Amino acid sequence: MTKQKVEREVEAVTPEEEVIFTSLRAKGWEEFIGQKGVKESLQIAITAAKKRQEAVEHVLLYGPPGLGKTTLSHLIAKEMGSNIRVTSGPAIERAGDLAAILTNLEKGDILFIDEIHRLNKVVEETLYPAMEDYALDVVLGKGPSARTLRLDLPQFTIIGATTRAGLLSAPLRDRFGVVHRLSFYEPLDLEHIIVNAAKKLIIQIDKESLHELAKRARGTPRIALKLLKRSRDFAQVKGGGHITKELVDESLRLLEVDSVGLDSGDRRLLLSIIEKHGGGPVGIETIASIITEDVGTIEEVVEPYLLQLGFIKRTPRGRVVTKAAYEHLKILFPHETKNQQKLI
Ligand SMILES: Nc1ncnc2c1ncn2[C@@H]1O[C@H](COP(=O)(O)OP(=O)(O)O)[C@@H](O)[C@H]1O
Ligand SMILES: [Mg+2]
Repeated sequence: MTKQKVEREVEAVTPEEEVIFTSLRAKGWEEFIGQKGVKESLQIAITAAKKRQEAVEHVLLYGPPGLGKTTLSHLIAKEMGSNIRVTSGPAIERAGDLAAILTNLEKGDILFIDEIHRLNKVVEETLYPAMEDYALDVVLGKGPSARTLRLDLPQFTIIGATTRAGLLSAPLRDRFGVVHRLSFYEPLDLEHIIVNAAKKLIIQIDKESLHELAKRARGTPRIALKLLKRSRDFAQVKGGGHITKELVDESLRLLEVDSVGLDSGDRRLLLSIIEKHGGGPVGIETIASIITEDVGTIEEVVEPYLLQLGFIKRTPRGRVVTKAAYEHLKILFPHETKNQQKLI
């Protein structure tokens, strides 16, 4: 599973956009909108750690891409006044790489491991004693004469982020003291995020356009910012620089984002169930093979938004596309007497 494959088209950003997004990262809690429960719980963990003059407990943040996991990690570091080292699961190839990182940490430092589900087994097992006892077991020599040496590490905090919590092993998951799933944002929160970004980027946008962008951002700040940026580009080329509803409509049509925020991948999933399986129920493995995506990615990245919209349902016999989705796609709902109707 390559990163490319997991990335949704509407989330694909240019390097220039990446720079803009990084510059827009919340610099304080007040700029981090929504996710109230998560924010409060993290603030409590931070306050407690400061009182005890200890490192914060290890934190695991999971949820679909673009919901603020990386941003929160930086906020935690800022609030603790700690250094943050950023790495990712696939970047730590060998146990020795991890040892090099860990032995260079100072007391209270934060190690942010993005895509933590992609750590390999050996590295992961090296991490266990490091997380639990702040110790590193180093094997010296080979074969029967090999010895293990235990090195003490300073107290530090791991913040792990993943879109695929289902792929984490239980022992790794259990070593995090604070675990949070980030959920999709309400349109009002997204409006707030867009307004703040528009101010920083000096973009003029009217209320109607703002509302429209928030509604079509798939509940995701990263997508909201990308749609704002694309609409601004469009406004600069086509209009006087002001973003209007017409320009939003046109730029989102080019990105194939529809009125409720579905992208081409979402529609492909719904249509494959409708066209090839009469709307379901159909097993997730079958769907995965039709749209050539792996089951876990469908369950943890693609499906959550469709479930939230009430466009699909999980039933014991598989996924079913609901009447609301048929109506949205303007496809005639199958006749009421059909068997599968009873499940909806
Ligand atoms: N709650 C939030 N308030 C304001 N901006 C946010 C929020 N969550 C995310 N963002 C913005 O959305 C973009 C993507 O967030 P990021 O932290 O990179 O997501 P993730 O790591 O979960 O993929 C960033 O530019 C960030 O500034
Ligand atoms: Mg991230």
